[in-house]
Amino acid sequence: MPRILITGCSSGFGQAIARHFHSQGWEVVATMRTPSPSGLPVSDRLTVLPLDVTDADSIAAAIAKAGPLDALVNNAGVGMLNVLEGSDIARARDVFETNVLGAMAVTRAVMPGMRAMRRGVIVNISSSVTIRPLPALSVYTASKAALNAFTESFALEAAEFGIRARLVLPGSSPETSFARNGISRMGMTVPEPYESFVQEFFTSLRSSPEKTTTREVVEAVWRAVTEDTAPMRQAAGADARRALREMGLAEV
Ligand SMILES: NC(=O)c1ccc[n+]([C@@H]2O[C@H](COP(=O)([O-])OP(=O)(O)OC[C@H]3O[C@@H](n4cnc5c(N)ncnc54)[C@H](OP(=O)(O)O)[C@@H]3O)[C@@H](O)[C@H]2O)c1
Repeated sequence: MPRILITGCSSGFGQAIARHFHSQGWEVVATMRTPSPSGLPVSDRLTVLPLDVTDADSIAAAIAKAGPLDALVNNAGVGMLNVLEGSDIARARDVFETNVLGAMAVTRAVMPGMRAMRRGVIVNISSSVTIRPLPALSVYTASKAALNAFTESFALEAAEFGIRARLVLPGSSPETSFARNGISRMGMTVPEPYESFVQEFFTSLRSSPEKTTTREVVEAVWRAVTEDTAPMRQAAGADARRALREMGLAEV
C-alpha cells in the first residue's frame, strides 16, 4: 500500500486530502501542530502525528515515525491579509517560516528515504495569487511565489533520483477557515488611508461568483501524486483557471 504524509491536517484542504487518499486505499500519515483525530476516519491505515513545520525537532520526530513515504503534501500554510504598511515584519517572517522554510525543511527531511527508494512525489500547495496578483496580500503572495520558485528548481535535482515535485495553485476558497485563521494569527489592522480600498477589495472578492472548492483542490493533488505526466503547475478552481487564462498562461 502506498503511503502519504500531509502537513496541516487539522482543518481545510489538508484534512480533505487526507480523507481522500485514505478512501482510495492509501496509508495516510495526517500531521498537525496539535494532534486530534477529529474530522478524520478511524482506521489502521491512518496515523495522526504531531508536526509543526517550523520546528526542526518536531519534523525529525514525525519523519522518523512516519516510515517509508511514497508522497508528501506540503499543505500547511498561513495567510496574511493586509497591505504592506499594515504588515508587521516579525509576523511576515512567521509567514515565510511556515509557507516557505517549513515546506523546504519537511521536503529536505523526506528526501533521504525517497532517494533510497528512487521514487516519490512531493506536492506543494501554493496559490493562484502567484498567477494574478491581488492587493492586500503582498506578503502572503511573496511567500507562495518563493514556494513556486523553490519547487521548480528543486524538481530538477529531485528528478535525478526518480522523485517528482509538483505545485497545486488553488484559487480563493470560502469552504475553509483560511482567512479567519490567518487573521487570528497575524492580525488585520489596516492603516486608515487604505481602509476603504481594502474593504472594497475584500467585498468584491467575496461577491465574485467563481470560487475554488475543496474537492477541486483534492482532485488536483490526487492528479499531481498519481499521474507521472501531471503538469508542474496545476490551477485548482474556476477562479484560478480564469486567472491563468487572463494572464495568457497555460498549465505547464
Ligand atoms: N483557502 C484558500 O482560499 C486558499 C487559497 C489558496 C491557497 N491556500 C493554501 O492552502 C493551504 C491550506 O489552507 P486551508 O485553506 O485549508 O486553510 P486552513 O484550514 O487554515 O489550513 C491551514 C493548515 O495549516 C496548518 N498550519 C499552519 N501553520 C502550521 C505549522 N507551523 N505547522 C504545521 N501546520 C501548520 C494549520 O494548522 P493549525 O490548526 O495548527 O494552525 C491548518 O491545519 C495553505 O497552504 C494555504 O496557503 C488556501
